[in-house]
Amino acid sequence: MCGIFAYTGKSGKDAGKVLLQGLVSLEYRGYDSAGIFTPESGSIKTPGAVAELKKKVPKKFNGKSGIAHLRWATHGEPTKVNAHPHSDCQGEIWIVHNGIIENFKELKDKLTKAGHTFVSESDTEVFAHLVEEKLKKAKSAKGGFEKAAVAALKEIRGTYGMAIQYKGEPEKLIAARMGSPIVLGVGKHERFIASDASPILPHTKKVIFLEDGEVAVITPDTHTVYKLEGSRVSRKPEEIEWTAQQAQKGGYEHFMLKEIMEGAEVIENTLRGRLIPEKGLAKLGGLEGVAKQLAKIDRIIIVACGTAYYAGLVGEYMLEEHAGIPVEVELGSEFRYRKPVINEKTVVLAISQSGETLDTLEAVREGKRRGALTLGIVNTVGSTIARETDAGVYNHAGPEIGVASTKAFVSQLVALTLLTVFLGRQRGMQPSEGKKIARELKALPAKAQKIFKGKGAIEKLARKYSEARDFLFIGRKYNYPVAFEGALKLKEISYIHAEGCGAGEMKHGPLAMIDEKFPTMALAPSDSVYEKVFSAIQQIKARKGPVVAIATEGNKEIGKVADDVLYVPETLEMLMPILSVIPLQLFAYYFARNKGYNVDRPRNLAKSVTVE
Ligand code: G6P
Repeated sequence: MCGIFAYTGKSGKDAGKVLLQGLVSLEYRGYDSAGIFTPESGSIKTPGAVAELKKKVPKKFNGKSGIAHLRWATHGEPTKVNAHPHSDCQGEIWIVHNGIIENFKELKDKLTKAGHTFVSESDTEVFAHLVEEKLKKAKSAKGGFEKAAVAALKEIRGTYGMAIQYKGEPEKLIAARMGSPIVLGVGKHERFIASDASPILPHTKKVIFLEDGEVAVITPDTHTVYKLEGSRVSRKPEEIEWTAQQAQKGGYEHFMLKEIMEGAEVIENTLRGRLIPEKGLAKLGGLEGVAKQLAKIDRIIIVACGTAYYAGLVGEYMLEEHAGIPVEVELGSEFRYRKPVINEKTVVLAISQSGETLDTLEAVREGKRRGALTLGIVNTVGSTIARETDAGVYNHAGPEIGVASTKAFVSQLVALTLLTVFLGRQRGMQPSEGKKIARELKALPAKAQKIFKGKGAIEKLARKYSEARDFLFIGRKYNYPVAFEGALKLKEISYIHAEGCGAGEMKHGPLAMIDEKFPTMALAPSDSVYEKVFSAIQQIKARKGPVVAIATEGNKEIGKVADDVLYVPETLEMLMPILSVIPLQLFAYYFARNKGYNVDRPRNLAKSVTVE
């Protein structure tokens, strides 16, 4: 996720100021580098967030139009050269982009051969050169810039929300959308392009939401929308009554809910370009350099904290069952002070959303000191863990603002599945099995959407149980870690006692707590341990404990025993946690919201724990 903002006007406002002010409200979309361009004053880019950019922009930086960007890195480290806006060889065409151009490597090769010089590692820069190339051919004809931009858009594959500016026609800006949001703002003698309405709202409430495959051309007094293939789209601006803050949250009340609801998109983003379904292979660019070494490793130690640790536990089950590698999972805070036995055939794999959690980082350093190969599954490009590990897989989940991790967990599980296929296929996993997993992975986004459609029922359930002071979460095998994650979500944001427990462990202690006031959330999908979990539910019911079951669609039997059932679509046993965690995230969210708590910023907790 990145944030883009563009302005053209003849209202007397200074584009430089409008753009900088707008970027502040987009900061939740990315903050590892920022940049601005106006045809009059040129471009300024910097690593870091808007505050850094503001320091670098001189007073006399101004203009009538321009484009600006906040980056959440995907391709290339968050450095100054990789920051947007990107330009062509001549500095004539300027682009800000949110998304990923998947075929950028082949386009880059072609354009390099045609004489273009690239300065960054960014996929976006390719697009600027592509428009330059097209413009060379179109320059004499009327409307050359527009034609060139459209021709270039037709050649790229991937996702984009972008704004394009050409110095030759400085008043005109082109926007395009495919998979990443674009909003046009329609003001008096001024027009805007942005990733969401928040930077537009101080200027106008009239907006047009672009749809995938649409292009828009704006000047201070005009805006035209058409489909990439040419037909005109007539869409009247709508008035929005959101505040800037509501707009940042996509209309949701909290970032946490927005981030849970992004789950399907996050699965797609983590998978993008990384599966070869017809061969049943996972293609992980970040691991290519160590692939040979990985073929020889005989043990993986996963180190992580909090939610990432629970993702690691699911990873352990996947990697052992499907890739045949012994795996241990350790809390970073424990690992760093033990004397673990490690050799050069050991991989220490860190999982971290922020890439900055101190205990996880120190565990990586300890692994390194002891000679292990270190890997990372990290969401924040260029973070310390990403830099210090030998190789890794980025999540591409976009920034997570809610302190309680939700979409990052989903993405970590997807990344672990890809790793399982990658390592499994090196070790005798059959192509047919790889294909089956790939097929099911691809089907997950639609299945996640189905769960989101039922969120009303989950909200109701959270209200029904709102008086509970304790909550038990049980699960077994792949859903054992999910039980712990469900409990963690609830305690983090609603401050009640919640605990996870292996369904098979109930009789060794937790069952003693059960009575009619102590509800249990039971993860009971129709998998290889379903019967066992079902019997644990019966034991709880025999002690009058209320039970909410998470079950696979079509299971009619469970409703006769459990008090309430939340259904999830069927999938492979190893992939079920990716779906089964969603109702638990939503339940925790609604439960805490009903209590009126600040769900995004729970008391006593921090998003990134960089101290011991
Ligand atoms: C904090 C956050 C959690 C997160 C954990 C690990 O406790 O509140 O949501 O799971 O840190 O963070 P990491 O960035 O390493 O995934």
